Amino acid sequence: MKELKNGQTEFTRKRYNTVSTIYDLMEWPVEQLWYKKWRQKLWQKIHGPKVLEIGVGTGKNISYYPENIQLTGIDLSPGMLKLANKLLPKSMGDSVTLREMDAQDMEFPDNHFEEVVATFVFCSVPDPVRGLQEALRVTKPGGRLHLLEHMRAEHTFLASLMEKLDTPIHYLSGVHIARNTVENVEKAGWNIEKVQDLTAKGIFKKIEASKPH
Ligand SMILES: C[S@@+](CC[C@H](N)C(=O)[O-])C[C@H]1O[C@@H](n2cnc3c(N)ncnc32)[C@H](O)[C@@H]1O
Repeated sequence: MKELKNGQTEFTRKRYNTVSTIYDLMEWPVEQLWYKKWRQKLWQKIHGPKVLEIGVGTGKNISYYPENIQLTGIDLSPGMLKLANKLLPKSMGDSVTLREMDAQDMEFPDNHFEEVVATFVFCSVPDPVRGLQEALRVTKPGGRLHLLEHMRAEHTFLASLMEKLDTPIHYLSGVHIARNTVENVEKAGWNIEKVQDLTAKGIFKKIEASKPH
């Protein structure tokens, strides 16, 4: 893996290494309530053939990967990746490759993938716009980005509460709860195609975007 460049990235990597063994347990309630069905719907739309998953984590999307795609998954944390690797069924063979890599500085050539997927990742990437610019660089013109993300609420009171809690929560978990990920996707140069509210107050959203030709 390329040399990690800054303290924030190293902090995030360490946080996820630390929580990796209890991550699935912590996420279990939301996984059952919401994430499972959102993941299933998202992956039904993925056709590739070359697909990049950013921030594979403990591999929660693996069971939803469609057949006939060539998937490359990356994550910053070797602890999370170790668990994801254990979940990879032998039947997937060479069609799935998981690598330790920083989304802010990827080792892929320009215009390489047809689709990029990330679920609940750009709340943690230290410089999300840079990560999204990198995702744009490695996607083919006309290629698509599919995100599930939580972000700052649209409701004013809730948004200011989230902003106040952002720093302590980030310190404890590595996660930012008050980001504006839709704006970040646009800032990075993607064309937003569709933004869907998945819960009340606009906290969880599905974002679809394309790379301009
Ligand atoms: C909240 S977890 C989500 C994991 C998984 N996508 C899921 O849906 O369960 C965020 C993941 O993003 C990874 N991550 C954070 N910053 C990253 C970066 N700069 N490059 C690659 N992965 C990163 C973390 O290591 C962690 O595994």
